[in-house]
Amino acid sequence: MKPRKLKANVYWVGAVDWDRRLFDELIPLPDGTSYNAYLVRGSEKTALIDTVDPPMASILMDNLNQLDVKNLDYVIANHAEQDHSGALPQILKFYPNAIVVATPKCKSLLTDLLLIPENKIIAVKDRETLSLGNKTLEFIHAPWVHWPETMFTYLREERILFTCDLFGSHFAASDLYVTDEATVYEAAKRYYAEIMMPFRTVIQKNLENIKNLQLDMIAPSHGPIYDKPEFILEAYGDWVYSPPKNIVVLPYISMHGSTKKMVEYFVGALVERGIIVKQFNLAKTDIGKLAMALVDAATIVIGSPTVLVGPHPKVVYAVYLANALRPKLKFASIIGSYGWGGRMVEQIKGMLANLKVELLDPVVVKGFPEEEDFRALDRLADEVLNKHNEHNLKD
Ligand code: FEO
Repeated sequence: MKPRKLKANVYWVGAVDWDRRLFDELIPLPDGTSYNAYLVRGSEKTALIDTVDPPMASILMDNLNQLDVKNLDYVIANHAEQDHSGALPQILKFYPNAIVVATPKCKSLLTDLLLIPENKIIAVKDRETLSLGNKTLEFIHAPWVHWPETMFTYLREERILFTCDLFGSHFAASDLYVTDEATVYEAAKRYYAEIMMPFRTVIQKNLENIKNLQLDMIAPSHGPIYDKPEFILEAYGDWVYSPPKNIVVLPYISMHGSTKKMVEYFVGALVERGIIVKQFNLAKTDIGKLAMALVDAATIVIGSPTVLVGPHPKVVYAVYLANALRPKLKFASIIGSYGWGGRMVEQIKGMLANLKVELLDPVVVKGFPEEEDFRALDRLADEVLNKHNEHNLKD
């Protein structure tokens, strides 16, 4: 795609990656992604805000060429991760006068990760400004969204906040701005769940920090730009601040049908009690969908058979992920079966250390579930209901 104009002398010059299906060799990208870079031309100086993933550097260079950018004074590095900073070496080679602008921590990371000489980078303080002539960039330190060195750049005269990863979405589109809010909401929630959720508390501080800014646009470095910033600010407000909802997330796996039978019965029991359930068969599930479900859930119930005296390895992966993502969960439990013994429950419990959850009595049966096991599942469903009612959790 060609450069796109946001405002007078402000352009999107990034790259849309329609075909990418995996990020960090871990995160599924069902809708591709984009690496957004922005050119700001002031009356005296020109700045590029962020670059692109290295395989797409030629697209960025071509976009700058189409805008006839002969000289770059500054490259603002809001974040050192390579999908935004990776094309910096090529940019600096082509524009040898350009100086990189970053937080002190980002400066250090850029020298470590990309071997950029220290004398090519100036470190800026929180709220420091840089004049481009008739345009002013203000740098707002925003640590831990989602690395320690991250910052936002605010273009004062045009009231655009460039937030790099925060508020982003892995969503490839030809639209420059959000046009279909429902679709972008889904992509932005997936992004929040996978990337930002572990830093929820610090994001609260960062949201406080920008709440008094006048905003015409929020321009992240993945996905469409928000020309109605309140849409994404309200969504983040819900994900970050709201209490969890009357939802049970139930990731499970079953090898010979015993755990599956328990899951089927238990899901029915929860639904009967008015609780929303999101069930994921870990043999088939998109792990991003599981992460999204965890954004709002109050309770996780893990279903596992016993394999090699412990939980199934795919359950281990999902529990590890849930623990690392640190969602707002309040309660957890375990259901499943075993053939002759094992330490499945103890091992899963040991993996939930990051989650400040109350553990409800697990239901683990020998072999295929029988009548008394179904009654135990009923009791667990009652307990989940009581806990959700005690906390007045809403749907
Ligand atoms: Fe899109 Fe943290 O990089």
